[in-house]
Amino acid sequence: MKKFKKQPLLLRKTPATLYTSLLFLLILITAAFISSLWSTLSTTTNIKPTTTTNTVANQTLVAANVPTKNEKIKHSNKFQPTVLNCTIKNQTCSSSNYPTTKNNMVCPEYFKWIHEDLKPWKKKGITREMVEKAKKTAHFRLVVKNGKGYLEKYKNKEAIQTRDVFTVWGILQLLRKYPGKIPDLELMFDCNDKPVVPIGLDPPPVFGYCADRWTQDIVFPDWSFWGWAEINIKPWEHLLKDIKKGNKRVKWKDREPYAYWKGNPYTAATRLDFLNCNVSTAQDWNLRLFTQDWIKESEQGFNHSNLADQCTYRYKVYIEGYAWSVSEKYILACDSPALLVKPRYYDFFTRSLQPLQHYWPIRDTDKCKSIKHAVDWGNNHEQKAQEIGKAGSKFIQEELNMNYIYDYMFHLLNEYSKLLKFEPRVPEEAVELCSETMACTRSYSMEKEFMGESMVREPSTKDPCSLPPPFDPTSLRIFYATKQNLINRVERWEDEYWKSYQ
Ligand SMILES: *[C@@H]1O[C@H](CO)[C@@H](O)[C@H](O)[C@H]1NC(C)=O
Ligand SMILES: *[C@@H]1O[C@H](CO)[C@@H](O)[C@H](O)[C@H]1NC(C)=O
Ligand SMILES: *[C@@H]1O[C@H](CO)[C@@H](O)[C@H](O)[C@H]1NC(C)=O
Ligand SMILES: *[C@@H]1O[C@H](CO)[C@@H](O)[C@H](O)[C@H]1NC(C)=O
Ligand SMILES: *[C@@H]1O[C@H](CO)[C@@H](O)[C@H](O)[C@H]1NC(C)=O
Repeated sequence: MKKFKKQPLLLRKTPATLYTSLLFLLILITAAFISSLWSTLSTTTNIKPTTTTNTVANQTLVAANVPTKNEKIKHSNKFQPTVLNCTIKNQTCSSSNYPTTKNNMVCPEYFKWIHEDLKPWKKKGITREMVEKAKKTAHFRLVVKNGKGYLEKYKNKEAIQTRDVFTVWGILQLLRKYPGKIPDLELMFDCNDKPVVPIGLDPPPVFGYCADRWTQDIVFPDWSFWGWAEINIKPWEHLLKDIKKGNKRVKWKDREPYAYWKGNPYTAATRLDFLNCNVSTAQDWNLRLFTQDWIKESEQGFNHSNLADQCTYRYKVYIEGYAWSVSEKYILACDSPALLVKPRYYDFFTRSLQPLQHYWPIRDTDKCKSIKHAVDWGNNHEQKAQEIGKAGSKFIQEELNMNYIYDYMFHLLNEYSKLLKFEPRVPEEAVELCSETMACTRSYSMEKEFMGESMVREPSTKDPCSLPPPFDPTSLRIFYATKQNLINRVERWEDEYWKSYQ
């Protein structure tokens, strides 16, 4: 948020000199840009424009309204909350600048990873060449120019299901939430499960959903926050409320005293292996494992896949699939300790989860024994187990609510745009994005429905939370060391437990 708080001297002048100064600045800017700036300024009519300028990637200016001191912030009646209504013949794309009040809230700690993820470009910045290199794997290029979104889709690369559609939709909603505040930028997005940018010098900046220690893709909230239509997973905002309600239905003590997992085991070797841990007549590892057959589920109207109904066991297992899995947030939200099989991948929030605080670590090598011990430990330390369950859910409910998802996207894109060494431009093949037409032209009704539900109805009245500073190298080292120590501690307990069995 620094960018918006620190107003250049220029801006404290009267409107008259402000415009003179702006004009002077404009001389430095390309002719093409002048027209767009003036169109932005001239369309912002409802509030007297004292203006913040925003220098982004070589002189790009974004004009955003801020109210004068005496002006109360409230939504004027010009801004009726928009509700998606696809029966309207002539869809208009609502968009406008909007005043916001300062927000002194500091964002959650996991926002610090934004700085880490952009580190590879911190010194030299991001050139156009680097961005173009990313085209090799990207499914689309997204451009923001003067607060509007543009999409260049790469036809030769089809994304899985509607991941790309809902990811673009999410960014489009961000533009609605903070109109005029997202700086000009161009980004490349890869929608596959696995990260694609190996660690190395001057990497192409590729946005994706996860990365691991050998890759440096820039992690971004996945599509499921706006809904996963193919398998009937509702937009996060609604689902989170449903899960919260679901949690109240069965108290932790009354839940089945076992670990629960439901999913598709055929996506990874570690999951196949995990099938062996299911309870059988010969052995009980304290695990109740169920396979999810999505085709069957869809034929039965998804009657048995409601995530809010899956909080009936005391422990819930998270195990990676082909790469990271979107299920992690659902699993953590249940008020039951998440038993996290040692993950390889991270997404944008998981690095801040701490073992024994938010989850219980499970070995990836000796999973059955590890699960059995975890459940026994929890059933013998009910208080502590409930605390872990609650802390995991609290993290998800409070720090991962939709407002913070948008704020995370805001800061990530904002910091990213500062690194651009070139003037973002709209490619010829790109199309301008519009929420209304995008949603109304979806042919599958559930997609339309999810978009209607997750559409940002009105701009935020508040600025985003403020971005915490980067980790200093020492605190980052301590962070990793603490995490490892806690995992080691659990593994020691586990070893002692199994020794006493012999
Ligand atoms: C949607 O738009 C149509 C046509 O303008 C209107 O008749 C209808 O009442 C609207 N529906 C809602 C729910 O706003
Ligand atoms: C739709 O909007 C366009 C452009 O604003 C206008 O020219 C056209 O007449 C409108 N059509 C209808 C059916 O209202
Ligand atoms: C695991 O065991 C339970 C209980 O016997 C059973 O209902 C379930 O179908 C089993 N899961 C798999 C994948 O076989
Ligand atoms: C799904 O559940 C509802 C209500 O329990 C039921 O009416 C419906 O028939 C079920 N659908 C299928 C395909 O089983
Ligand atoms: C700004 O643009 C000029 C010429 O277009 C270029 O030489 C310079 O390196 C750019 N500076 C930054 C900070 O991007």
